[in-house]
Amino acid sequence: MLGLPFVVAAISSFVSLPNVEGLKLPNGAAKLPAMGYNTWNYYQCNINETLVLTTAQQMKSLGLQDAGYKYVNLDDCYSQRDRNSAGDIVEDPVKFKSGMKNLTDQIHAMGFKAGIYSDSGTNTCAGYPGSYGNEQRDADLFFGKWGFDYLKYDNCFVPSDTVTRTGIIGRYTRMRDAIISATSKFNKDIVFSLCKWGNNQVWLWGADIGHSWRTTGDIESHWWSVTDILNRNSFITQATNHYGHNDPDMLQVGNGDLTYDENKSHFTAWALLKAPLLIGTDLYKIKPEVVSILSNKELIAINQDDVVGTSIAPFKWGYNPDWTFDKDHPAQYWSGPTKDGVVFMLLNVRDTPDNLSFTLTDSPWIKNGRKYSVRDLWTHTDNGTVSGTFTAKNVPRHGVVALLLKEVGDA
Ligand code: GAL
Repeated sequence: MLGLPFVVAAISSFVSLPNVEGLKLPNGAAKLPAMGYNTWNYYQCNINETLVLTTAQQMKSLGLQDAGYKYVNLDDCYSQRDRNSAGDIVEDPVKFKSGMKNLTDQIHAMGFKAGIYSDSGTNTCAGYPGSYGNEQRDADLFFGKWGFDYLKYDNCFVPSDTVTRTGIIGRYTRMRDAIISATSKFNKDIVFSLCKWGNNQVWLWGADIGHSWRTTGDIESHWWSVTDILNRNSFITQATNHYGHNDPDMLQVGNGDLTYDENKSHFTAWALLKAPLLIGTDLYKIKPEVVSILSNKELIAINQDDVVGTSIAPFKWGYNPDWTFDKDHPAQYWSGPTKDGVVFMLLNVRDTPDNLSFTLTDSPWIKNGRKYSVRDLWTHTDNGTVSGTFTAKNVPRHGVVALLLKEVGDA
């Protein structure tokens, strides 16, 4: 008989198995999905140091820092159009007139970490300098001289690569290696977020290179975009675990025409997919109901589960036959393990209120013949016990139900 180690070794020699727990940088950054703020979804290129610092202040005043959001991240458009004569990226002297080091010092003094953005091609998507061929130089600038702790790394203006032949993955590997070196040089945790839009099946290799990887194109502030992204992500949930996370893009909660229920559904899905949670709305005009969605402690606790790193996955599609790819009607019944029980997400993808019903043991995490207590993660109430089937009544159009079930005894 062949032993298990032999069989595993034999399989791995001809199948490339994904790295189960993802990239561990020397000092162990980013075991859990990053939580914070990013300027892009709301402000796009209209950013400056005052906006960034007052937004950070708002994160504190609104209780978002206490809820766990700890990164304040710049996106595209912070620099001058060209590198200086020494070859370095230079901050825009109008938008960031006090300099980046001053900015990160102030962000750190408020108890946050700071994030910066660059591109694996020659230019960023908005046309500013990218890091292609300057990876170590830029990593030293971002994490050393400027004092940042996080890098989002985009995919625009990619050269055809006949000279360096570093290819699709190689471009990201070079920056990963520059970050590993910066980690020890500057003795700090650095998070590496790949922005690869789901191209080249990034979920198969992202965990070897970064802590998160965009699985899809840019999110927009409409329900059709949330369902489109959720549908695509429903087929690759296995790629997420501690240290390496699918990134369905930053939150649009509070933006565009998303309704209260759509905002709740969007937030629930992203939290339980173990996605990075990066707020991207105007924190001056934000409605209290949106603050309360973003601060849902029970969902955040699952997103930040330090024992179980895996994502929820669909166990029944509902509206469609199982495994249907439908950008407007993603799977409706999802579940997954957590350190405190089995979590469920039930999504009403219809345009009218609906009852959502399922057999508990259709979830692979529920044991036959056992009874479970039910915690509602939106009403924050304990709702008795259940066995057999569960029905959520009258779930609003595009609304969500999130439940935590704990095994309490025989049915
Ligand atoms: C896109 C990226 C967005 C944003 C934008 C900036 O490629 O997906 O999240 O970073 O570039 O230009």
